[in-house]
Amino acid sequence: MFLSNASPSYNQALDAADAATLSRDQANEVERFLTFRKNHAATPLTSLPALARELGVGSVHIKDESHRLGLGSFKALGGSYAVVKLLLETASSKLGRAVDVSELDKPEVRDIASRLTVACATDGNHGRSVAAGAQMVGAKAVIFVHSGVSDERVAAIANFGAEIYRVPGTYDDSVSVAEQVSRDNQWMVVSDTSWPGYERIPGLVMQGYTAMLNEIVRELPEPPTHVFVQAGVGGLAAAVAGYFDIVFGKNRPKFIVVEPDRAACLYESALADKPTKIAHGEPTIMAMLECYEPSLVAWRILAKKADAFMTVGEEDAAAAMRRLARPAKGDPAIVAGESGAAGLAGLCEAVGSSSTRSSLELNETSRVLLINTEGATDQKRYEDIVGSSPAKVLASN
Ligand SMILES: Cc1ncc(COP(=O)(O)O)c(C=O)c1O
Repeated sequence: MFLSNASPSYNQALDAADAATLSRDQANEVERFLTFRKNHAATPLTSLPALARELGVGSVHIKDESHRLGLGSFKALGGSYAVVKLLLETASSKLGRAVDVSELDKPEVRDIASRLTVACATDGNHGRSVAAGAQMVGAKAVIFVHSGVSDERVAAIANFGAEIYRVPGTYDDSVSVAEQVSRDNQWMVVSDTSWPGYERIPGLVMQGYTAMLNEIVRELPEPPTHVFVQAGVGGLAAAVAGYFDIVFGKNRPKFIVVEPDRAACLYESALADKPTKIAHGEPTIMAMLECYEPSLVAWRILAKKADAFMTVGEEDAAAAMRRLARPAKGDPAIVAGESGAAGLAGLCEAVGSSSTRSSLELNETSRVLLINTEGATDQKRYEDIVGSSPAKVLASN
């Protein structure tokens, strides 16, 4: 399904608060924070010329977040950054002076961190990021996971010393339980989705993603003309759309939000022109995108800056994973998880439809940017779908 953005707010200016959250200065500051993380390195931006030829576009570049900070997804940037920011704010207020990220190892800061508990709901990657951030600063983390989160993903979160709280139901159920239990215990909720009255912390999480966008802008030979980004609650998509709007202004690329057709809350919000909660049906293999209610901040930005919303099917995502794992001759193989490949699934669907191609002005001169948002964060599922292990896929390069 494909829908051009027909909202009355389409192409209006970003709210001042959102523009400040996603500004270039803040993105530079996020990158400075990253220099204090042990395993930080920019992730690769890979050109796929053979794929571009097959799809009839000028170029395809894919930012490969499977390499991010040893956590396997771009989410490593958001939750951990928000935890560090919040600790620094708490420490600054307790110590009565500005505390900088360079002071995380000072005994007085560690002491304040040891009394802090951060909590969040997750379908995997965000919880891993929050847990890693808490471990790094010496705080406690309690992570709420719903029934659909695989044991392998839960174990990966627990590996960072987090306490795990299993919640029956869906991601949205885990969000409300996390909120309630945290309120009772005075834990700090570090959520990647926002709701009325709770916007600042999810804004920090989105701000964390902008470090990746700074890297992309530095690395791309020319600005993109089209960006296809997969969405769950929309935080990533909104960060990308808002940041590119700030950086490129009127020359910004066209921005297309891609969701699983089984969990398309942003598509439905675009149809209704308001944030819309949808009924949940069958689970999708794009487990990280299985969200039934958009983030309020994300919707506010996307209503203005997304050019189109589209959905992809289960087999489309699986086919895109296989296409990246066994690329056309000359292109390198890329390990993309089920949610990681969804942006490419959207591009493939778009080029396959003449009406979508012409609506997006997608042609042989287009420069397309994709983000492989995760690697094989569940290796067993990856092997079931792709038919080879991630190690074998990479060995073919
Ligand atoms: C791998 C991956 N891709 C995309 C997304 C979507 O991000 P958002 O929920 O901010 O839309 C997520 C969210 O967890 C994710 O883990």
